[in-house]
Amino acid sequence: MILGWVCRVCGAEVDVARPFSWTCPSAGADDPHHVLRLVDDGVESEVIDDANPFVRFARRMAWFSFAVGNGMSETEALSLARSVANGFLVTPFAVNGPLSERFGVEVWVKDETGQLAGSHKARHLVSVMLHLRVAEELGLLAERPPLAISSCGNAALAASTLAARESWPIEVFVPTWMDPAFGSAMDALGASVHRCERAAGDPPGDPAMAGFRSAVAAGSVPFSVQGPVNAWCLDGGRTIGWEMAAVGAPVSELVVQVGGGALASCAAQGLGGSVSLLAVQAEGCAPLERAVTAVGDDADPASRWAEVMTPWEEPHSLADGILDDETYDWLAVLEAMRVSGGRPVVVSEASVVEAVEVARSAGLRVSPTGAAGVAALVEGAQSGPVAVIASGVDRSGA
Ligand SMILES: Cc1ncc(COP(=O)(O)O)c(C=O)c1O
Ligand SMILES: [Zn+2]
Repeated sequence: MILGWVCRVCGAEVDVARPFSWTCPSAGADDPHHVLRLVDDGVESEVIDDANPFVRFARRMAWFSFAVGNGMSETEALSLARSVANGFLVTPFAVNGPLSERFGVEVWVKDETGQLAGSHKARHLVSVMLHLRVAEELGLLAERPPLAISSCGNAALAASTLAARESWPIEVFVPTWMDPAFGSAMDALGASVHRCERAAGDPPGDPAMAGFRSAVAAGSVPFSVQGPVNAWCLDGGRTIGWEMAAVGAPVSELVVQVGGGALASCAAQGLGGSVSLLAVQAEGCAPLERAVTAVGDDADPASRWAEVMTPWEEPHSLADGILDDETYDWLAVLEAMRVSGGRPVVVSEASVVEAVEVARSAGLRVSPTGAAGVAALVEGAQSGPVAVIASGVDRSGA
């Protein structure tokens, strides 16, 4: 059972029953380098026999402890999950024959391409939505503040999908270069989409992120898939790892493509320390590997956040979902790599391109970002049976 949160950087503690505890209480605009991590009671809570992962693993989740800790009955909480998380699937995790043959080891694929909104991103966001809906049901939220997200793809679409189902207003801040297929899907879902252009005299950094920050400063909920911006996204993200663990695959390594790092940290937590985490970034954007090299075996990497996790200059890759210029959840990914004996892997752009072809011809309907983990196999990074995550669906034909 989840008891609460503790900041990885300053040690601040937050009880799980506290509403809207999105960030460390010590974090602020001039001191953003804090991130909450979950604290449990050390007892693995029972799984509920249900096909929906947010019901199945409810007892291990923070949103559920938040509900029950504030007086909601378990039955009410589970029925809320059935409606808010309606449509989520325990996605397939199985050996892929063509990939195993090609790479000469068993390759297990967690196939998220059929997940709600076509990627794993909705898993992160639905735990934030469950927190909000629980708060609303319990009378802790008098008025609905708008949701805000900054993203150019899967996360924004997942956010717009979940918001539309609850008729919750959402503002999506996107760069001008966003794929129009995403824009029209979000428009159709009723999201208010702000295409953010860089204006003369703007501060450096992503203009979409700047728009998002001012919306949050004005009272919007940070409906984010980055742990430091909203730790509650790390709650639901863990379902992907638990689903993989439940299969009992004999894998020695887990390969995950890393953008902001929430996916890798959540998947690795769910799978446990006996499977080595290989955190994959493209050569055109590898801030994690740079930071990990800089900290070496320093026992207190958190104290060096500002020094080592610096924005990558001009990120570029075909895998455009992992072009976050900073790996926001780097501390959790670093910890997972240390605990499991894993490491960062930087792949060449040629391997990213090849990985897309290889994954698609192995029957996976993946986007380039969704195939990016396979690039590590193309480069021979694996040393035994390995798990990869086909994290997002191919939308090129959409
Ligand atoms: C399909 C897909 N896979 C993987 C990632 C990387 O996830 P994270 O940013 O949590 O590292 C993203 C992020 O946008 C994505 O869209
Ligand atoms: Zn803190």
